[in-house]
Amino acid sequence: MDIYNQIGELGVAGVTIPEEYGGAGLSYQDLCVVLSELAKSSVSYAVTLSVSTMSQSILAEFGNEEQKKKYLPALTSGEEIAAFALSESHSGSDAAALKTTAKKVEGGYILNGTKMWITSGGIAKTYIVMARTGEEGHKGISAFIVRDGAEGFSYGKKENKMGWKVSPTRELVFENCFVPEEDLLQTEGMGFKIALSALDRGRITIGSIAVGLAQRALDEAVKYALDRKQFNQAIFDFQGLQFMMTDMATEVECSRLLVEEAARNFDNGIKNQKVACMAKLKATDTAMKVTTDAVQVLGGVGYTSEYPVERFMRDAKVLQIVEGTNQIQKVVIGRCLKKEYAQ
Ligand code: CAA
Repeated sequence: MDIYNQIGELGVAGVTIPEEYGGAGLSYQDLCVVLSELAKSSVSYAVTLSVSTMSQSILAEFGNEEQKKKYLPALTSGEEIAAFALSESHSGSDAAALKTTAKKVEGGYILNGTKMWITSGGIAKTYIVMARTGEEGHKGISAFIVRDGAEGFSYGKKENKMGWKVSPTRELVFENCFVPEEDLLQTEGMGFKIALSALDRGRITIGSIAVGLAQRALDEAVKYALDRKQFNQAIFDFQGLQFMMTDMATEVECSRLLVEEAARNFDNGIKNQKVACMAKLKATDTAMKVTTDAVQVLGGVGYTSEYPVERFMRDAKVLQIVEGTNQIQKVVIGRCLKKEYAQ
């Protein structure tokens, strides 16, 4: 938290949130630059900021004045972290199948159920929780603000992950947890649309994290290859390796341009889900490929923790899974193509 607090001191804990709530009032293109730079050092911190910003954007866009004033300032200052709770054990890609219930009672709702894979679970103070207030399917889902410490709200299993070691991933357990009426976002039944529209931007920011990570892996690989000599020459000058690095550089550049395009669309109010999903897909697949190739360029030492590239490779993998697996991105891109060509 002390390091995250410093992100706040730098003024970037709420890049896209309006200034009146303590944010920087900047664009998604700006946020992508911040996240890319942060990811060059630590994907864990970048993703903590990305998910907190996505959750803040839900409050900023869908919250009423009272909710915004109450919850945003502690988040935009970096004093607190926010988290997004959609997934459950049986409901990952099929997000609309979630089972956590929110039963209407006098003055509020009673939540019961368990959320899984929650980034910043246990360290976040404000949670945006999707729960079922009505019928099966997406129409019965509502979004709630739940605070750490609420009665009936506890933390379950903490995952032991391959990467993202600084970013805790944890279950949230709701056992007759009372949430006051004023902490419902918008109206009953709006939860799925709120979640998916937040993911539209979350996918762009995950893409920007992937770009920063891939760029850093490329930097490490080229620097090492220029320095390391075998057969009386820098290994960079062996065309087999050089072409590997030119491919890495080309893929990083393509990904950066696609992420920038997706963010620019968003900033200009152009809803282009296809490009947002393409940006997430391309950039995260690139991060996986480039970090793996960086380990190859460094050879034996690349596989050890003496150099950072093995961490980059471990941190890259889950970028292909979170905020919609890359297969889900293809489902959405496919749906967009079908619509486009059927017109
Ligand atoms: N914005 C707003 N509304 C949207 C939308 C969007 N982007 N996409 C769809 N909707 C609306 C639709 O219009 C529809 O509403 P109507 O019936 O009123 O028209 C409704 O939502 C349902 O849409 P679909 O029929 O398309 O829904 P679906 O059940 O087929 O699911 C899906 C679509 C794309 C597969 C979706 O379930 C999905 O994205 N799944 C992946 C879930 C995911 O990304 N989870 C990530 C968890 S968070 C995370 O990883 C963060 C982290 O910690 C790092």
